Amino acid sequence: MSTATLDKQEPKDATGSAAVELITATFRIRRFNPEVSAEASWEDFQVEIDPKERVLDALHKIKWELDGTLTFRRSCAHGICGSDAMRINGRNRLACKTLIKDISPEKPITVEAIKGMTVLKDLVVDMEPFFQAYRDVMPFLITSGNEPTRERLQTAEDRERFDDTTKCILCAACTSSCPVFWNDGQYFGPAAIVNAHRFIFDSRDEGGEQRLEILNDKDGVWRCRTTFNCTDACPRGIEVTKAIQEVKRALITRRF
Ligand code: SF4
Ligand code: F3S
Ligand code: FES
Repeated sequence: MSTATLDKQEPKDATGSAAVELITATFRIRRFNPEVSAEASWEDFQVEIDPKERVLDALHKIKWELDGTLTFRRSCAHGICGSDAMRINGRNRLACKTLIKDISPEKPITVEAIKGMTVLKDLVVDMEPFFQAYRDVMPFLITSGNEPTRERLQTAEDRERFDDTTKCILCAACTSSCPVFWNDGQYFGPAAIVNAHRFIFDSRDEGGEQRLEILNDKDGVWRCRTTFNCTDACPRGIEVTKAIQEVKRALITRRF
């Protein structure tokens, strides 16, 4: 049964601006509040909204107009901060980059927390283990010798080698879509490897060997089974699996 209805609004001003077509969409949200129940449960909300708006806009409407207890993270609302990754219709996405019209709003839209991490409340998960794996790969430039008096130069070709992995916004969409990570949460996960890649292949960095040894661990790169879920999930379009393969190859050849 269709749960979305069309409702054409008249233009709001005399300038003849185009009418906005509102729909009533059902958002089926996985709720969890440990102070109320040990079990999570689904709750439906009917939201009247322009389908050209984003899932984040609908969540704001629900929180501000229907149920102020709905809990989720967001900050920039423009795909930069990485704080609003969630499972929307069973797929990891950023709520602020997902247009309602693109996710079949004629059917209930499911929204739940990303998988493999402890849910604290509603759509908010404990990100600390994720950030610990990120810190473990030392995501900063490691150099020796004296401080240079000018910027450290590199060629355009050298910069190109790690350009893709500089785009990471640490949203965890990749790591929380990886079946190996779901298994036990011990795997470093694709996001940490992406951020190691960003420095391993930087010609100005001298910590590549250390990072490779860290990822040569039983919970490191070798646990990747090349399932590509991470690449499909990345909202920045990073070729995550390719980056992981490059790190594996660097471990074998020790050339990077
Ligand atoms: Fe998010 Fe992509 Fe970075 Fe993974 S690699 S944390 S999906 S931006
Ligand atoms: Fe997981 Fe991505 Fe590898 S989904 S198994 S890290 S290719
Ligand atoms: Fe910042 Fe979506 S709110 S990426």
